[in-house]
Parts: sequence; C-alpha cells; structure tokens
Amino acid sequence: MSGTRKVVLDTDPGIDDAMALLYLHACDNLELLGITTILGNASIENCTNNALFLCEQFGITAPVYRGADRGMTGKQPEDYPDFVHGLNGLADIEVTVADKSAEDQDACTFLLESSNANPGEITIIAVGRMTNIAMALNKDPTFANRVKEIIFMGGAATCEGNVNTWAEANIIGDPEAASIVFNSNIPLVMVGLDVTLQTRMSQAFVNSLMPDLSPLQSLLLSINSVYASFYKTNQNWDEFPVHDSSAIAYAHNPDLFGRELGRLSCILAGEQRGRTLFVPDPAGNHQVCLSVDSNAMLDDFLKKVTAAYR
Ligand code: BDR
Ligand code: CA
Repeated sequence: MSGTRKVVLDTDPGIDDAMALLYLHACDNLELLGITTILGNASIENCTNNALFLCEQFGITAPVYRGADRGMTGKQPEDYPDFVHGLNGLADIEVTVADKSAEDQDACTFLLESSNANPGEITIIAVGRMTNIAMALNKDPTFANRVKEIIFMGGAATCEGNVNTWAEANIIGDPEAASIVFNSNIPLVMVGLDVTLQTRMSQAFVNSLMPDLSPLQSLLLSINSVYASFYKTNQNWDEFPVHDSSAIAYAHNPDLFGRELGRLSCILAGEQRGRTLFVPDPAGNHQVCLSVDSNAMLDDFLKKVTAAYR
C-alpha cells in the first residue's frame, strides 16, 4: 500500500465514474484536492452537474472545476454514448443539486495552479478523455515538470478496443489530447481495457455495498442497472466491467496490478485513429497495467465502501 497521495480526479460522470468517485472518497490514503470535469459520457453541462450531485450524495467537499466542452481539434461531438450512460450521463435518474456549485476557475486553470502550489506532489487520476490536461500542457509546458504522475483509465495495449477493433472510448474521444500527454515527460500509468475488462461487478455486489433501504443503495442500484443492461444486451455478460474504479484501485494500491515499463503513443490518422501503441522499454517512463488481482480489488472496494458510508 502506498502512502498518502494528493490527487485530482479528472472525470466525465458517467455511471462508472460515479462508482470511481464513491471508491476514491472511501480510500483514506487518497487526498482529493479537486475534481475537474470533462465532456465525454455526456455534455460538459451534464457531466459537471453530475459531479456536483455525486459530491452532495457522497458527502464530498472537494471543489469541482468545469472543464472543456470540446476536444483539441475544436470540434464538439455530435452525440454522446447515451446507450451506455443515459441521456444525462447518469442513467437518466433525477439529478438535483441542492447547494454545491462549480468554482469560477476552469479545470485547466485549476490544474496549473494546484501544480504550482504543490510542485511534484500531485497525481492526476484521469478517467475521461485527456483534453483538460493537454490544454494545461499547451498553456504552460512547465506543468509537465510539476505533475508527479498521471494514472489514466483508457487505451488498450494487448486487447481490442471497445469503440472499434483498435480504440478505447476515452482515447478515441480526443486522440490529439492523448498524444500531447503521451509526448510530455509526465510519468504515466495506463489502466486500460487490458485490466479493466478483467474485473467485473454484479448487481448483487452493488447491492451489498450499502445498508438496505439507504438512499445511496437505491441510487447505486438505479444507475448500475442501466449500465448492467447495456453489457447484457451488447455482450451477453451477466456482470459489468470495472473501468474507472480500476484507476482508483491503482492509485490506492498499485501492488494489485502487474505492469510493464515502456513508451506509449497514439495513432492520429486513418482507420486506427485513437489506437494506443505500447513499446516495452525498461528505460521508458510509461507503465502499462497488464494483469490485476481482481478478487483482491473487489474485496478492497467492498471493505472500503462499506466502512466509509454507514
Ligand atoms: C471509459 O469510457 C467511458 O465511457 C467510461 O466512463 C470509462 O471511462 C471506458 O472505455
Ligand atoms: Ca469515465
């Protein structure tokens, strides 16, 4: 188990993002300095609103910073993956935010300022497309020297993608952003489909996380039932993969993962646009997770979450 990390969560909530935030808040060796939002699973308005809502539901006081509403090419998406996450990004449950609002600063400014205030100390856990981080690097290239590490959920090194044969959703969402991040000298850890498809949750597992009849139990069951039915319909899987929470698990306990050192790059053109390429190299500063102790990870998720939300 690692010592305490100062973390910023860059996220596009998103059903599995919601589970990741739930888990992160339960890990006492992760100090959450702020949440930066990014478009992806829904529009930036919905993703930011969902982040504020989830903070209120989970009792998280960390500030929320609104991020980019389009990718590095300047293009806004024509649609969002509502067939996975619902039209509002959170399974179309009612999302009402009582008091909390987003900060005046935007995500890019917060990333730069928090790295200035904590040079060499911040781990960014990125569980959406990496546009905010790429924008920060473009605005101030010295940002790269002040970030301790980026742990990102995205990509596929040894398996097929989940959007097409080659590409995973967060990377193909903004391949230019991924490429900028891969070409910076920031130490990276890729928690991609190679491992996130190996760990699966069931609705029974979700049900066991909260006391019976608690409002959080009903919230988690509602959102995950929509997520589960997507995987049942599309893959005929009875359990759903644990994407974004796997990045939290790595930040919390890297020993759960087998990994290899090397160099990552991203294909930007042609039919393989959005594909992540990994070349093993002991001198590289990118690590790719290739195996995971799924049972230990799920045990830890259950233990931490049941202890934190009583
Ligand atoms: C990733 O794409 C998003 O839909 C999920 O939230 C996750 O971050 C999985 O490919
Ligand atoms: Ca996500």
